[in-house]
Amino acid sequence: MATSVRDVAVAAGVSVGTVSNVLNRPEKVAPATVERVMAAIDELGFVRNDAARQLRAGSSRSIGMIVLDAGNPFFAAVARGAEARADADGLSVLLGNSDENAAREAGYLELFREQRVNGVLITPASDATENLERLRGAGIPVVLVDHEIAGSELCSVSVDDVEGGYLAAEHLLQQGRRRLAFVGGPPTIAQVTNRLEGARRAVAEVAGARLEVIEMPTLTVLNGRAAGEAIVAREAADRPDAIFAANDLLAVGLVQGLTILGGLRVPDDIALIGYDDIDFASATVVPLSSVRQPAEEIGHTAVELLLKTIADPDGKYERRVRFRPELVVRESSAG
Ligand code: RIB
Repeated sequence: MATSVRDVAVAAGVSVGTVSNVLNRPEKVAPATVERVMAAIDELGFVRNDAARQLRAGSSRSIGMIVLDAGNPFFAAVARGAEARADADGLSVLLGNSDENAAREAGYLELFREQRVNGVLITPASDATENLERLRGAGIPVVLVDHEIAGSELCSVSVDDVEGGYLAAEHLLQQGRRRLAFVGGPPTIAQVTNRLEGARRAVAEVAGARLEVIEMPTLTVLNGRAAGEAIVAREAADRPDAIFAANDLLAVGLVQGLTILGGLRVPDDIALIGYDDIDFASATVVPLSSVRQPAEEIGHTAVELLLKTIADPDGKYERRVRFRPELVVRESSAG
């Protein structure tokens, strides 16, 4: 039977927490105690990975999850998929909302490290690489959700957003639209910049087509509505004839700003497509075209990958899962 972390603690005459500190934060432990614990580890033939796993076994039987916007139905669906898979293994999901704020995100990462959760799922609001590596150093695995970091060892489950942006713009161009606008959010959100890159590639393939970028502070219904009102306030000749919104919440707000407040017609005056295909997309006053992300499947797969990483950190399995986006055409862009 494998030597347990508790065996090491008894042999060294220290607590399990001290063994954890020696394994993860030796700088916080008196040198003589470190020496005693390491001697016990050597004597008992204790295996480090096993130590991390067994220490987590005593943890809170939970997974930490940090989303960009808890008010966005897309992340609610991702969380639902994650919770269903976690529950099957008797784990709970502790949900944190960064609200696209780097400081809040860092606070949740520290909380989950202190809580010694079994693992962390995160859609980063910023370049959180340093904090994420610190979590891994503490023996807490991380899976990136709806995002991947090029060149990183971090596992990830995402959608090809460049392809998704291309599909959205290509669809508008196929409707004969040529004056496109991309209504997006802060460039710190990689999903937004990848969707814009895809749209740029599609526009570059059509002579006479152009793409204007309208950046909003956050990707919300209210900001979509404000963008719509600003577009309506322009001279007709200065308005785009089609809009690609970086997500469905912006698109829902744009429908309000363009039609109810601005008196324009969608799609007749301005065609519109969003991204995510949230449940409400088909229920808006003008049913929204969108680019679908398999949200619940993303969440389910992210937990599956996290559990694999916990059970077998050095195992041979696919560490980057990337889904294909799907174009869903409805009244807001067709015809
Ligand atoms: O939070 C902004 C967007 O990023 C969400 O709507 C979803 O598309 C995610 O990828």
